[in-house]
Amino acid sequence: MVSHASIFAHRGLSGHYPENTMAAFQAAMDSGADGIELDVQMTKDGQLVIIHDERIDRTTDGNGYVKDFTYEELNELDAGGWFASSFTGESLPTLENVFQWLVKESNRLTLNIELKNDIIHYEGMEEKVLNLIDDYQLEERIILSSFNAQSLKKVRELHPTISIGYLIAGIRTDALAVAEDIGADAIHCQEDFALSNYGKKALEAGFPLRVYTVNRYEAKADLVAAGVEVIMTDYPEQFK
Ligand code: G3P
Ligand code: MG
Repeated sequence: MVSHASIFAHRGLSGHYPENTMAAFQAAMDSGADGIELDVQMTKDGQLVIIHDERIDRTTDGNGYVKDFTYEELNELDAGGWFASSFTGESLPTLENVFQWLVKESNRLTLNIELKNDIIHYEGMEEKVLNLIDDYQLEERIILSSFNAQSLKKVRELHPTISIGYLIAGIRTDALAVAEDIGADAIHCQEDFALSNYGKKALEAGFPLRVYTVNRYEAKADLVAAGVEVIMTDYPEQFK
């Protein structure tokens, strides 16, 4: 009987810091979170940049699609002021910036990299992410996830052992079959799936459930009782 779930900071400690910035990641580490979830998109010049949306409008002072800018151009933008004026000056990190930070800090944080390639197909994203993981020898600490099953299949073809979480929204009755087809190691789902019969079947079939985005502390007990492995939250300091 599982009586404990690991806590991952969703987009960093995004409840109190601008999501997907180094400030949010540092705060997540300081909170004692077990892991960090972040989102990766790709720039015009093929750089892996940490930002949730395909567009830069919501979380920076710029306008347009990530794919239409070079990283040098995106690096000029402010990615903190939209959240609170005290965070003005935060920038959009690259995945490599995060890896550099991760290896220099003495911590054992797990990093869940969500490949945001389900709306825009970023050619070559999978290879770039895997090569970078290899360069920094971070395989043991990384989970790759995506809503795009084809992309995850490609990841599995390219890398037989990297940890893969198949990401679903709501109750997907085919989730277990797709996860098996991908060769995934886990299913990343919402509370409704985790607490459903489908979630139970997935667990019985050996797929750990990692649940997003849980911001109501009261939900924790039921999820832990259901046997979920990870709870992803914007408020990891409350869940630890
Ligand atoms: O990876 C879990 C969760 O982040 C997926 O949804 O939209 O917050 O990236 P979203
Ligand atoms: Mg995400």
